[in-house]
Amino acid sequence: MAMQYSLDLEQDTVDPLYSEYSEFRERAGVHVINAAGGPRYSLYRYEDVAAAFKDARFGAAQASPGLRRALRWTGFGSVADIIESGLLIALNPPDHTRLRKIIEPFFRGKNIDGLKLRVEEIVHELFDCIQNTGRFDLIADLAIPLPTRVIAELIGFPQSDMAQLKQWTSDLAPLIDSDLQRTAFTRKIAAFLGFRRRINELIKERWREPRDDLLSALAHAHYATGELSQTEIIGTAIFLLSAGSATTTHLIGTGTMSLLNYPRELNRLRTDPSLIYKAIEEMVRFNSPILRTGRVLLEGIELHDQLIPRGAKVRLMIGAANRDPRKFEDPDQFDILRSPNRHVGFGGGIHQCIGLQLARVEASIAIGALVQRFPNLERVSKETRWINGTKFRGLTEFVVKI
Ligand code: HEM
Repeated sequence: MAMQYSLDLEQDTVDPLYSEYSEFRERAGVHVINAAGGPRYSLYRYEDVAAAFKDARFGAAQASPGLRRALRWTGFGSVADIIESGLLIALNPPDHTRLRKIIEPFFRGKNIDGLKLRVEEIVHELFDCIQNTGRFDLIADLAIPLPTRVIAELIGFPQSDMAQLKQWTSDLAPLIDSDLQRTAFTRKIAAFLGFRRRINELIKERWREPRDDLLSALAHAHYATGELSQTEIIGTAIFLLSAGSATTTHLIGTGTMSLLNYPRELNRLRTDPSLIYKAIEEMVRFNSPILRTGRVLLEGIELHDQLIPRGAKVRLMIGAANRDPRKFEDPDQFDILRSPNRHVGFGGGIHQCIGLQLARVEASIAIGALVQRFPNLERVSKETRWINGTKFRGLTEFVVKI
């Protein structure tokens, strides 16, 4: 056993991303960078990030300003409207409160409990496809298809739409953090238009024949009560699909990798499968799928002797906060028994992740079943293929032997 530990790269060295975070976190309470669009402020310490999430002076940041500008220049203003009005994360009260109230019941208690059996079914279906392969790519064969199918079914898309949805979601992938140099703009527009057409069709269908799904609730809120505009419905459905897919994919990928990198933790879990729920929290803390988010100050504030003016853009460095030694003992150790573990991986305050219960259910069923069903599970390469970018933390590929 000791031999396995010493061979493990992650346990002996701290991942360079977190060493860099640690440097910034210790250097100053508020980090200021003079960027082209004006100074940008970043908070790296747990207490500051957790407090900012709950502070109403930290308002929502607009989503994808570059993408929206480009859409307007190219005559696609109606697509820009969808991003502007339907993305929960980019809205302040009262619009945020109105939209969130309509969709929240679908992500709570009984509704999520009712989905557990369906998640198990999909997981075992996916495992049956890989059972005899000897090795497989955990990302492509499990971590991508599972959350995409689950969120699409919860929203109310029919099975026959799945392949098309997967394509559109992937074309829109960095919806919020878009970098126009790198993303195919025309494919994004095509995906938006395709989504809009399909959602409009389904909303009309659900209004005629309501079901128990989210689309029916959205149709009701548009046609019956007038609480939601058509643009808001489309934005909400697209945002939920995109927010509910990639993050959970990243958690299943990096979470499984952490278990394989830390054999003692894996053995603990195999010996007591009920530890899976604690293990999932530690996975979210250890490699937070969303590394950072943004806010715009609605009022000026003073923090760590630094004045931050109204209108300033502030980055909340979730991934750094979750490794803050002021809050977590031995923060660079992956410890599935960690308690307490009050990480900020799902955010906090009014924008706290609406899908956190769903993400926990999906990841615990997928990873729990994976380690029990494949007792010889092993990573094939020591090389770790991280996705590009500084906003999300996930793997592009993770090949395992069974
Ligand atoms: C491991 C998986 C996930 C992680 C780590 C995660 C993380 C987060 C974080 C950090 C936020 C807050 C962002 C901010 O305050 O700026 C957030 C918000 C949100 N998440 Fe998740 N998320 C996950 C899965 C999901 C799933 C499955 C859904 C399902 C639809 C979802 C839907 C949302 C929505 C709609 C918001 C915005 C809520 C609001 O503005 O009121 N997330 N998520």
